[in-house]
Amino acid sequence: MAKDLKVVLLGYMGSGKSTVGDALAQKLNIPFKDLDGVIQEKEGKTISQLFHEKGELYFRKKEAYYLNQVLDLEASFVLALGGGTPCYANNMADVLQKAGTSIYLKMTLTELVLRLEGQRDTRPLIKGIKEGDLPEFIGKHLFERAPFYQRALHTVNVADKSVEALVEEIASFLV
Ligand code: S3P
Repeated sequence: MAKDLKVVLLGYMGSGKSTVGDALAQKLNIPFKDLDGVIQEKEGKTISQLFHEKGELYFRKKEAYYLNQVLDLEASFVLALGGGTPCYANNMADVLQKAGTSIYLKMTLTELVLRLEGQRDTRPLIKGIKEGDLPEFIGKHLFERAPFYQRALHTVNVADKSVEALVEEIASFLV
């Protein structure tokens, strides 16, 4: 039987991992999995509830646990990671190897700030941050996180490309 195709999408919050991942999975005719969705389903709580009730450390442990569980499945899929997943999983090299294909959806600080400024209430990491403080917060975060994202096999600049264009670009890496 042909080897399973596992495509993992990395990138900061708001970079489009879930939207692009879902469209890519449809094009490839394989299931789409969203790690945040898996965690919410298995834990019976939203990500915000987990952060609020159990704390970030609990969330990070569960995130790493379910990441490995999903990657060990003998199946093909596209998996969108959470924005922090690659930065907290201590076996990221194994993760990327198990996945086979990993893609970093890269956005600039300016683009991210624009996308995220209206979403501060629904995202636990940026909840409570004043709009004017967002560029500094995200900029610092990106500086810390970029080295983890850059370990992906391929990097795609999201810029103002359509979802279809991004899917085509990623699919071209898979042939
Ligand atoms: C997080 C990103 C979120 C979610 C959680 C923490 C992060 O996922 O996992 O709120 O640390 O960047 P998305 O990137 O899918 O929004």
